[in-house]
Amino acid sequence: MRVSVIGLGYVGLVTSAGLAEWGHDVVGVEASEARLSLLREGRLPFYEPGLDELVGRHGGTGRLRFASPAEAEEEINASEIVFIAVGTHDGNGGWQTDTACAALESIVPHMADDATLVIRSTLPPEFVDTLAGIVREHRRDHGKGAIPVLLNPEFTREARAIQDFMHPDRIVLGVIDDPEQIGVERTQRLYEQAEAPIVVLRGLDAAFSKLGANLFLATKISFANELAALCDAYGAQVDQVVSAMAYDTRIGGAFLRPGVGFGGSCLPHQVSMTVKAAMEIGIPTPLLAAVDHINHRQRDQFVERITESVTDIEGAKVALLGLTFKPHTDDLRDAPSLTIADALLKRGARVVAYDPMADAAERAAELVPGLEIAASVSDAIADADAIGLITEWPEFSEIDWTSARGSVRGAAIVDGRNALSPDRVAEAGFSYRGFGRGYAPASEAGVLQPENGRTPIAIQPDVGAVSLPATAIPAQSMRLAERVGRSD
Ligand code: UGA
Repeated sequence: MRVSVIGLGYVGLVTSAGLAEWGHDVVGVEASEARLSLLREGRLPFYEPGLDELVGRHGGTGRLRFASPAEAEEEINASEIVFIAVGTHDGNGGWQTDTACAALESIVPHMADDATLVIRSTLPPEFVDTLAGIVREHRRDHGKGAIPVLLNPEFTREARAIQDFMHPDRIVLGVIDDPEQIGVERTQRLYEQAEAPIVVLRGLDAAFSKLGANLFLATKISFANELAALCDAYGAQVDQVVSAMAYDTRIGGAFLRPGVGFGGSCLPHQVSMTVKAAMEIGIPTPLLAAVDHINHRQRDQFVERITESVTDIEGAKVALLGLTFKPHTDDLRDAPSLTIADALLKRGARVVAYDPMADAAERAAELVPGLEIAASVSDAIADADAIGLITEWPEFSEIDWTSARGSVRGAAIVDGRNALSPDRVAEAGFSYRGFGRGYAPASEAGVLQPENGRTPIAIQPDVGAVSLPATAIPAQSMRLAERVGRSD
């Protein structure tokens, strides 16, 4: 099928490359000259595992081409489906629909009479109801007839976007304007190879199904963080608790990892915007307000834990491991690391961070004045008074803590993702605090004592997923239990 994709950010570029992989003929349209020239040189404007390979391969076969809006007029006219995948964030935690409106104005008049328009951007609910009218008006103004208009929200996660696009759990189509079902039928054919259930809904319901999914995921994370606080207070261990809960198929184990909370361009923004927008129409959303509150509290708690772990935060050197909002991405949008680094600097600490994504680290230093960047883990932790892990990059689980112990000044680790093994770290002579895992004092006598009279809690061996005979565990539950505590 011939397809145009307008907007080549995360969503648009992954959609373009994925459709080309299925054999469709795709033109990606991008207004930014800088981004366009990068793509034409075969380079990506951001890091997404596997995307460079797909873009390179299909750029080579000619199945995926890139064009500016002016160059793309003919291709758009020849497309059976045109996706709009432009940004809808205002960069300040709010929505903006100006970019989408401008794209509709310039693209819709050039579409063929039998083409289908599919909006893939996440839209504010109140905008969804105006879409049919906007598109019909642009068509009418150019003496053209109505075209089918659908929403097709995306559910891809950064760092797993290709996998999520090619093998989705479900595909949602929201009907904005499609009286003959021509658009739905055509888009179903486009996605045939995904072999996933296709759910066809009214437009607004489709938009809410996207919002609802993200709000629920955010709620699960804040729930896990609340649970972790209770575990810390009573002396339970959250990993063990969640691994047992995960056997219940009504609950599942995904998105129940406590720590510094959720970041990124989607979950934090969609939670806070929903609370704000609902308030404006007089609907209180106390659950979501709490989700937002808990998420911010986690960042503050991390800063508190670092502060408590040193004699005097003023002048202390704090090493931060990881800056991106999750591993395998170079995205810093609403990354917990930025707020944390800023807060520690304000308390007078010297903050030195390392992230495997060197470019992202440099950008972080621009965003947080005073933040220093180290070229390696060992440079970051040399002479550190405390170490804080913020992003669970796999390489941090490989650190040889025994040799690291020789280069630090203070032997305290705060694990903001529960990614390290508390007993290994404690054995190496560090004190360990995660979230909901208790407190492990350094096993080396006299190095550090539990603070504030806190009772040290013995770290249990990791028994959760093997405490039942494998035969007694349904395959699905086994998989869920194994996923607990891992990066999603
Ligand atoms: C999220 C959704 O997961 C996608 O389904 C959705 O398509 C996307 O937003 C979007 O709306 O475009 P993404 O923001 O890429 O995807 O990242 P997630 O994997 O959801 O992680 C978000 C944050 O939650 C990360 O900071 C991660 O570290 C944190 N997290 C995740 C936890 O703190 N605990 C967990 O158990 C899981």
